[in-house]
Amino acid sequence: MAQDLLWLNGDIMPLEEGRVNVQDRGLLFSDGIYEVINFYNGKPFTLREHLERWEKSASGILLDSPGTIEERMQVLMDLAGKSGYRNASVYGQLTRGTAPRNHLFPSNDTPPTEFWFARPTPEFTSGVKEKGVSLATHPDERWEHCEFKTISLLPNCLAKERAKRQGAFEALQYLKNDIVTECSASNAWCVRDGVVFTHPATHRILNGITRMAIIDVAYALGIEVREEAVSLREFLASDEVFISSTTMEVMPVTAIDNKPVGSGRVGSVTTKLMKGLRERIVADCEAAAV
Ligand SMILES: Cc1ncc(COP(=O)(O)O)c(C=O)c1O
Repeated sequence: MAQDLLWLNGDIMPLEEGRVNVQDRGLLFSDGIYEVINFYNGKPFTLREHLERWEKSASGILLDSPGTIEERMQVLMDLAGKSGYRNASVYGQLTRGTAPRNHLFPSNDTPPTEFWFARPTPEFTSGVKEKGVSLATHPDERWEHCEFKTISLLPNCLAKERAKRQGAFEALQYLKNDIVTECSASNAWCVRDGVVFTHPATHRILNGITRMAIIDVAYALGIEVREEAVSLREFLASDEVFISSTTMEVMPVTAIDNKPVGSGRVGSVTTKLMKGLRERIVADCEAAAV
């Protein structure tokens, strides 16, 4: 029978049996990084890309990630396989380990805490992708290194919770100069006159693995993508908007701050990219369910 399974510092166990020390720096300081990878029909999508970003995030916070990408790939394939879920979402975290509380880093021989767990991929209520979701605008209150996938996510959590309290699905974040960056847990895109815009992959956003796959898909479909900053005013006046992440793939957006985006219906460019990405996933993961 399929079950939620955890790999914790080399041991595999049921997820609910996992324990970490209360002095773990992940808990005390949010001192760590994470990744989320989807398995489709038992096969991972863009696994190497996720693990390369893991290495980049780790070195971005001066944390040594033990082992190699190949070893970690093996751990994840094994864990997802043993979980028994055909469509698993695998979450992994690496922290600077357990040490007496001190802002300064612990000694170099402190082992990091690494864990991965496999759970079923969350499913969206049927019809959501046909109807599209709504966003609520929110100031981007995060730090200067959003390019690293760190576990310090409190501003993201607050933004998403505030959006939810306004009846929206996600928070669309913008800087003091009104430039749209990304959402709380997804990248943001708009379409203007058939051209797709996304914030450039700077320190201001997490360069989504899905984002990179979409740029690739767009190129293959002959759809122009510009990695350019867009102001909130321009974003709100776009023909189409969508958001993307590992969990959502392409998610159409049909309203922002309770006002319709374009026609208020899912747009044709968004639909092409949504289908194109799905086809890419199916092709990469072979007979994955469409
Ligand atoms: C802030 C943020 N931006 C973008 C993304 C999308 O990244 P990916 O496509 O790699 O899942 C995420 C995913 O968690 C995120 O948290």
